[in-house]
Amino acid sequence: MAYNIEVVVGSLRRDSFNKHLGHALTKLASAEFKFSFLDIGTLPLYSQDYDGDFPDVARNLKRQIEAADGLLFVTPEYNRSMPGVLKNAIDWGSRPWGTNSWREKPAAVCGISLGATGTALAQQHLRNVLAYLDVPTLGQPEIFLKYAEGFFDANGDIANDDTRKFLQTFVERFEVWVKRHVQKGS
Ligand code: FNR
Repeated sequence: MAYNIEVVVGSLRRDSFNKHLGHALTKLASAEFKFSFLDIGTLPLYSQDYDGDFPDVARNLKRQIEAADGLLFVTPEYNRSMPGVLKNAIDWGSRPWGTNSWREKPAAVCGISLGATGTALAQQHLRNVLAYLDVPTLGQPEIFLKYAEGFFDANGDIANDDTRKFLQTFVERFEVWVKRHVQKGS
């Protein structure tokens, strides 16, 4: 039985640490979990004027979210909050009113940044928004990572053994969380 997870990376930067982290996390998952990365970079800026006629790119985004069994948010912190591109994608997925595509999708949040807070504030803001959107979000373990040279090895994996083991636990907890919320036929 496969579980399909959409990874939502809050950075559009080509060499984004969070994108690398997202890929490294997928490699720690069990074989029954399949991951795709949601494309949030081609969305226009959301305006309520679109609600009567959503563009294809936003319809596709909503379809992909609705088809997912779970969501993994991997985000940097911008000015002590989540980046605007992530909030923009969340707003698109939540509309038009009454068609919140994120609703009841089990989720987990994590992130890596250059600052000592390790995206803690971005994640708290994100959790607040997800709670409003009725997204059950894994509480523990919290993942606040500070990037430093050598964090990823040459294969893009987590270089430090302890950090990798901790992230392995996070992924395992996320898998249990998804399974608890998703009913799959046998
Ligand atoms: C940052 N950065 C940052 N870091 C942090 O720890 N707390 C913060 O509030 C901010 N604020 C912030 C604002 C803006 C506009 C930028 C561009 C950057 C630094 C950030 O951690 C760093 O750029 C990361 O590399 C961003 O993540 P990605 O793009 O590598 O995934």
